Amino acid sequence: MSTSSSPAALLAYERLAPVYDRFTDSYDHDGWVARLERIARQHGLSGRRALDVACGTGKSFAPLLELGYDVWACDLSPAMAEQARRAGGVDPDRIVVADMRELPHEGAFDLVTCLDDAINYLLEPDDLVAAFRNVARLLSPTGVYVFDTNSLSTYRAAFAARVTFERPQADARWRGETRAPIGPGALCEASIELAGSSVSHHVQRHHPESTVRKALASAGLACRAVLGQSTGGVLHEDADEDTHTKLVYLAARAGDESLDFGKEVTTMEIVRPIVRPRIVRPSIVRP
Ligand SMILES: C[S@@+](CC[C@H](N)C(=O)[O-])C[C@H]1O[C@@H](n2cnc3c(N)ncnc32)[C@H](O)[C@@H]1O
Repeated sequence: MSTSSSPAALLAYERLAPVYDRFTDSYDHDGWVARLERIARQHGLSGRRALDVACGTGKSFAPLLELGYDVWACDLSPAMAEQARRAGGVDPDRIVVADMRELPHEGAFDLVTCLDDAINYLLEPDDLVAAFRNVARLLSPTGVYVFDTNSLSTYRAAFAARVTFERPQADARWRGETRAPIGPGALCEASIELAGSSVSHHVQRHHPESTVRKALASAGLACRAVLGQSTGGVLHEDADEDTHTKLVYLAARAGDESLDFGKEVTTMEIVRPIVRPRIVRPSIVRP
């Protein structure tokens, strides 16, 4: 297993943890996660036992608690996991420090989530396969896995060198640092300058849809749907790397295609591709 991705992501979030909630205070996790959960139900999700992988400070599992889920969670960063424990709502023993490529959990989960571009911190296809294998092991037979990845549009708008923006509420400044042209599969970098001269350095890989689909299949998961997402957590039926900020994947255990409820899904949650969304101000890691 490659370990190259962990040290950078670990250090980035150990430093960012104290201000993460303020840095992301404009994100509407409640509406976003509730929408994703409803779509997952239309793809066969039943039951309310959830595992939130890469939970950060708990913003991605808080809406699941509101929806009545019994939640377990993990994150690579001890500082982020500690914030999640302090947020309350989940037995602190259920929030563990773990790399998503080596999950210690046992048992079957109805819903496994991994939200807000955590997957992009996995830098090699083998890392994706390792992470997805753990999910395949932990999903119940009708369980659904929901995760998102940053699109090329997001990397070009936020990770390219010379892109900067302020987050005054967190006393922080974002700086894109990718000098090479950003194409499919690019390695992208950015830094967040924090008060007191501390820097949270982020290294992410853009994962093309074909790479993600291949890794899911290698891990024993079947891709049920790939949706595009634009700012505000608005979901679109046709994922488009150039116009959407994120791609959202729904997957389930492979092998029992009779469970492919997704084939017939029509939902008001998803915008049909009549009008392309206009990205007014692309923002990184913003649901
Ligand atoms: C942008 S934050 C998202 C946190 C949370 N899911 C949310 O929506 O607010 C990305 C998280 O991924 C975690 N992470 C990065 N690489 C990881 C890995 N290999 N295993 C587990 N967590 C990881 C980071 O520590 C960080 O908390």
